[in-house]
Amino acid sequence: MVPEIAARAHLDAVVPTLQLALDDAGVQREDITHVAVTSGPGLATAVHVGLAAAKAIAWSLDTPLYGVHHLAGHAAADILEHGPLPERSIVLIVSGGHTSILAVGDLVRDPIEHLGDTLDDAAGEAFDKVARLLGLGYPGGPVISRAALEGDPTAFSFPRAMLRQGDAPYTFSFSGLKTAVARTVETLERAGEPVPVADIAASFEQAVVDVLVKKSVRAVRERGLDTLVIVGGVAANARLRAVAQEKCDETGIELRIPPPRLCTDNGAMIAAVGDLLVRSGAEPSGLGIAADPSAVLHGAQLPLL
Ligand code: KG4
Ligand code: ZN
Repeated sequence: MVPEIAARAHLDAVVPTLQLALDDAGVQREDITHVAVTSGPGLATAVHVGLAAAKAIAWSLDTPLYGVHHLAGHAAADILEHGPLPERSIVLIVSGGHTSILAVGDLVRDPIEHLGDTLDDAAGEAFDKVARLLGLGYPGGPVISRAALEGDPTAFSFPRAMLRQGDAPYTFSFSGLKTAVARTVETLERAGEPVPVADIAASFEQAVVDVLVKKSVRAVRERGLDTLVIVGGVAANARLRAVAQEKCDETGIELRIPPPRLCTDNGAMIAAVGDLLVRSGAEPSGLGIAADPSAVLHGAQLPLL
């Protein structure tokens, strides 16, 4: 039922949202010369609604249509803020559905190399699940980080997975951490003790941040690069931003993170990929493009299926 509700909500929202975006930007429909749209990955019904709307716009205005990979959009958000990427960089994508370390060259011309992904939960998903079990609501990231402000990040020593020698260096796993938090809460509740929500939130957040920063800084050094880009909804997290900045300063790495409003999902990041594709002379995807809800990231533009 949830996908049905999501599909209906997208259908209700799509035209008013487009109108609002045009009004805010001071742009008329006739001013649109190209259309870029997320054609994957994402919740299938949501991707279908967005793609159908984009096709209708491109068809009625007779403009080229580009299908964009959602995660490439997250990386492009940083280009919007900080300008072109260097020749090569390491990109850490941390969102509600993905956690990946990528080696990236020219975002739209070069293939994107996956160095590692998560074996189970994404980082944002871990925030959402832990927030639910602490009774903090959804989305988990902002509420956990707010609660964590009052807490001690060393109060609980939650596990840092995949950091031992012999572990895949760029692979993540967050489900054990979530289970450790659940077990801690259960044990306290069974003993009739109060649950120190702020301390648990801060210790959980610190555990996630430690692993994300260690692995991505290691990738930059091992690849002999000097730029780390952190993007996706979890990149809005203040502790992640602060710890990453500290480690990058120590090791002489240039850190780029978009401002929080461009970290979480937004339309500008997809338009930014469209802009790069048009400038690079890429062939439009065309009106025949299909949705690819589980598209793997190989490049910024999604091929016709
Ligand atoms: O990139 P995004 O907006 O959507 C996806 O593509 O998934 O990421 C959403 C995720 C959610 O799991 C949310 O809890 C997390 O980003 N998030 C945060 C923060 N703001 C959003 N996680 C940690 N700290 C935050 N401040
Ligand atoms: Zn996203």
